[in-house]
Amino acid sequence: MDKINIGLLGLGTVGAGVAAILLDPQGRHPLLADMALRRVGVRSLHKPRALHLPAGILTTDLVGLVQDPDIHIVVEVMGGLEPARSLILQAIQQGKHVVTANKAVLARYGAELWQAAREKGVYVLMEGAVGGGIPIIHPLKQALGANRLTRILGIVNGTTNFILTQMEAAGMDFAAALATAQSLGYAEADPRADVDGEDAADKIAILATLAFGVQVVRDEVYCEGIGGIEPVDLQYAERLGFRVKLLALAQRQGEALDIRVHPTLIPRSHPLASVQGVQNAIVLGGDPVGEVMLQGPGAGAGPTASAVVGDIVNVAATLRANSGYHPLLGATGAIPTRRLPMDEVHTRFYTRVLTQDRPGVIGQLGTSFGRHGVSLESVVQIGRQEELAEIVVVTHQVREGDFWLALEEIRQFAAVMAIPTVLRVWS
Ligand code: HSE
Repeated sequence: MDKINIGLLGLGTVGAGVAAILLDPQGRHPLLADMALRRVGVRSLHKPRALHLPAGILTTDLVGLVQDPDIHIVVEVMGGLEPARSLILQAIQQGKHVVTANKAVLARYGAELWQAAREKGVYVLMEGAVGGGIPIIHPLKQALGANRLTRILGIVNGTTNFILTQMEAAGMDFAAALATAQSLGYAEADPRADVDGEDAADKIAILATLAFGVQVVRDEVYCEGIGGIEPVDLQYAERLGFRVKLLALAQRQGEALDIRVHPTLIPRSHPLASVQGVQNAIVLGGDPVGEVMLQGPGAGAGPTASAVVGDIVNVAATLRANSGYHPLLGATGAIPTRRLPMDEVHTRFYTRVLTQDRPGVIGQLGTSFGRHGVSLESVVQIGRQEELAEIVVVTHQVREGDFWLALEEIRQFAAVMAIPTVLRVWS
């Protein structure tokens, strides 16, 4: 096989993000340079598009795309139930691997698609369907494979988390917060899927199916949305020590599965309570690993495209592995690079200096730092230690070598008795 050819179904927010990555492989996984974006299926050829695609690859013949014998991987990011489901099935029947981010199709027809794929000996990968840019499906299937999974708790809808955060932090009303989420490309085409919890219910159904090996009937997932929440509820929750989040939950309860989505007051001390804006986070409970939390951007073109292209790389690796070595199990060929010497590192510093308590000492310190190009953020004299003044200095981002030159000079000052601590400050 020469290049691995990709057929992309859909060029909306996520599709454009996927195409942009495939067309610009430099600096990413080496397998991406081994692929070609062969055809892109869209509804209209004439819609204005920001992305510059190679001439002649756009087509409205979606069936022709999935049947094209030159295409090895079909990537479905068009959304909606039909024709997406039928096109995925046709691609499988043609012996093609499929990558999809379509949680609505997977939550309802996943079992049918996986069965068809098994029979044909192809894969249907779906990392982009849940949690945007967070790798969650692969860890569930692979890295956590040793565990008996007991519980999934997640904030899996970026739009509603963004809306709740805006309502709480910026005092926005629901409609204004939703409009902002839509303008940023987070919301589904029909925002009811987000706001009513349906999108989160699709996602928890997929996660529960993978985690517990049970077939989840999507319509049985109990689901409440955030439409009834008023800013005053968020304020009261805060006074009581909680944050309100749209929580998706699945856990075993004896022989039964407890699976639901609803707004929930979460104690502010719980890690999920500090997940803000469009971020998603998922806590997985497993035996023996304990609790693992994964967090990251849960919606938007870049994060979802990152997950989708990760799946494409996975399928491509499998295709290449047929000839021997699996490219994802070995480390990628790293190119040697110069390590930045510590003197050239740029960082902020905290340092504590013990000096005699007399006029002009702080000025001397400032002058010395300034002479070496070290800009200071703050200099404070907070306490005293056995008749000595304790001066704490925090710098801006400075060149490490310059900082140490200044400090060596300062160490020689007659008034300086000791410099007990130097720490770097992250920013
Ligand atoms: N509308 C979804 C969300 C996009 O807000 O999370 C990602 O599935």
